[in-house]
Amino acid sequence: MSDSVSIESVLTENRVFEPPSGFSESVGGAYIKSLDEYHALHKRSIDDPEGFWGEIAAEFDWFEPWSKVMEWNLPDAKWFVGGRTNLCHNCLDRQVNAGHGDDVAMIWEGEPYSLSLEGEGRGEGAPPGNGGTPEVRNLTYHDLLTETCKFANVLKSCGVKKGDVVTLYMGMVPELAIAMLACARIGAPHSVIFGGFSSQAIVDRVVDASSKVIVTCDGGWRRGSVVPLKDNVDAACAKTDMVKSVIVLKRCHNDVQWTDGRDHWWHEVVASASEECSCESMDSEDMLFLLYTSGSTGKPKGIMHTTGGYMVYTYLTSKYVFNLVPDRDQVFWCTADIGWVTGHSYIVYGLLPNRVPTLMYEGAPNFPDAARFWDIVERHKVTQFYTAPTAIRAFMKWGDEHPRKHDLSSLKVLGTVGEPINPEAWMWYHKVIGNEKCPIVDTWWQTETGGHMITPLPGATPTVPGSCTLPFFGIDAAVVNENGEEMPVNTGGLLVIRKPWPAMLRGIFGDRERFIETYFSRVEGMYLAGDSARRDERGYFWIMGRIDDVINVAGHRLGTMEIESALVSHESVVEAAVVGMPHEIKGTAIAAFCTLDPGHSTGDVAQLETLKQTLRTHVAKEIGAIAKPDMIRFTDALPKTRSGKIMRRLLRSIASGDTDPNQDTTTLEDFSVLAKLRESEEG
Ligand code: WTA
Repeated sequence: MSDSVSIESVLTENRVFEPPSGFSESVGGAYIKSLDEYHALHKRSIDDPEGFWGEIAAEFDWFEPWSKVMEWNLPDAKWFVGGRTNLCHNCLDRQVNAGHGDDVAMIWEGEPYSLSLEGEGRGEGAPPGNGGTPEVRNLTYHDLLTETCKFANVLKSCGVKKGDVVTLYMGMVPELAIAMLACARIGAPHSVIFGGFSSQAIVDRVVDASSKVIVTCDGGWRRGSVVPLKDNVDAACAKTDMVKSVIVLKRCHNDVQWTDGRDHWWHEVVASASEECSCESMDSEDMLFLLYTSGSTGKPKGIMHTTGGYMVYTYLTSKYVFNLVPDRDQVFWCTADIGWVTGHSYIVYGLLPNRVPTLMYEGAPNFPDAARFWDIVERHKVTQFYTAPTAIRAFMKWGDEHPRKHDLSSLKVLGTVGEPINPEAWMWYHKVIGNEKCPIVDTWWQTETGGHMITPLPGATPTVPGSCTLPFFGIDAAVVNENGEEMPVNTGGLLVIRKPWPAMLRGIFGDRERFIETYFSRVEGMYLAGDSARRDERGYFWIMGRIDDVINVAGHRLGTMEIESALVSHESVVEAAVVGMPHEIKGTAIAAFCTLDPGHSTGDVAQLETLKQTLRTHVAKEIGAIAKPDMIRFTDALPKTRSGKIMRRLLRSIASGDTDPNQDTTTLEDFSVLAKLRESEEG
């Protein structure tokens, strides 16, 4: 069931860490101070969701009040029915109106690149490298508001109207957040595409959403080289005529192709744009954004989030899970890329209404060296730090000397997200980064849930390494069988949510059937998360892994079917099966088994080795480098059951080392005998 956590290892975990003494004082008071307080408030939030959420929502500005807090017609939830508001207003205007315009809203740290003026692919007038000096920008609420209004006017001048989807394919620069906020301001849902995705991925998403405008950058910095973002957009535009305007931010000064009439430089169009732009009055249920994510089929699904519920939920989870308190010199840093939901909710939308500066960084954790993160934490006195287990495992491997060189005493809360964290990595995070003084919040949630669902609260919940502990307020999570009956203690089952919550997805864009089929059909009346889990004696949740064909590679969610489709789209591959295999750093790595077209399967070892490289490159081109198989094996035939189903469990055990991975034989392998043996075993 699980690709990365063995049930045995978690069953033997019995270390319990109480919230450190002095935590509450160190953050200017913990919002939730004890487990009893948590239980009482959780009970209230479940018994009276309308009362609970109505009070929180009242902290925001609404242009028109809601008539009903919640309406639930399974599978459709509506929150703050009839209410009208604008999330950009609540992130920026509200802070400025309250006299906080000069407070820092966002701290941005660019990659300390070091290319020379003559560097390859650098355009005319390019500045010399910054010699490894970090580039820092502090943006106040007022700065963000001005830039957002200008860019909102630019979007309008490109013909963008309320309801039109705008695609954002940019690096980690403040202008990405500005473009998101500008979209929210004028009621145009954004669809952010992670900068590591390929041109084909852009085409698929742009066409699915009928998106006519793309905002991009000439390039993005990553480990001292330029990611050619504009080139990828050009390649995408060559494959579809959907896109009418491309706005290009100059970041790396690399050479780019130009299509007159379609392409516009950001700095040119913004220069003449007005700083005045009123907010569109949005219905609470108007779409805020689309974010594509992987599922069981080859086609990524556009997860739809709406305005009011998402606004209220990301605000409250940020506040309570990280104990954000304004005016207490807190600096919050989430290291995720905005291309994923974590960046949407915990770099931008959950943070700005909390009025604690959000830090955003460009680049990679190990460039220019493996101490980059700790250098940033020290210089900006980061108080809450949120990252992924895959990064933590990489830091462990790079060695303690890097964090030890830096003063990390500003840290108060440490967070993790994206995949199960193994107890060893948890302990390292606790000791080496947190100096045994910082609560660790292991937050379980998904693109579909919009915000944290199961997580400790730092001043209240005793933590156990590897467990995401207890549900957030308003969340009725359970582990059940297919009939919806709760499983006994420590018995694995399906993780479900039994009641609606404000930030739940409102559907899959353009695919109602898939929405119902994926989330609401297997267990009647409940949201099916797609993860398996168990609960221990304390009621704590332990996530065991996905139950569908989704794998979690270095915290990135990928569908095995997507990778299989990419492989078979190459002329040499007839059939492909992709499975996850355990990996020390990434948690799960990608193993692909392919049968080859006869014309390609007769080559010698060297030719087949070259073919493997070709296929890796091909997958990177079709999806993105994150989807490149770590291991490819060629086989005569894929092992199948008599009814024709690929025996994935067998492939998983082969990939995970039932056979020596170093014997990654390049010649064709024959798994048919193994398959026959296994079939009789599996019945
Ligand atoms: C996994 C990322 C264990 C899980 C926010 C989920 C986790 C999928 C955790 C969603 C965690 C996320 N412990 N597993 N703390 N957080 N997952 O949509 O399998 O990119 O279903 O959202 O990541 O991935 P997504």
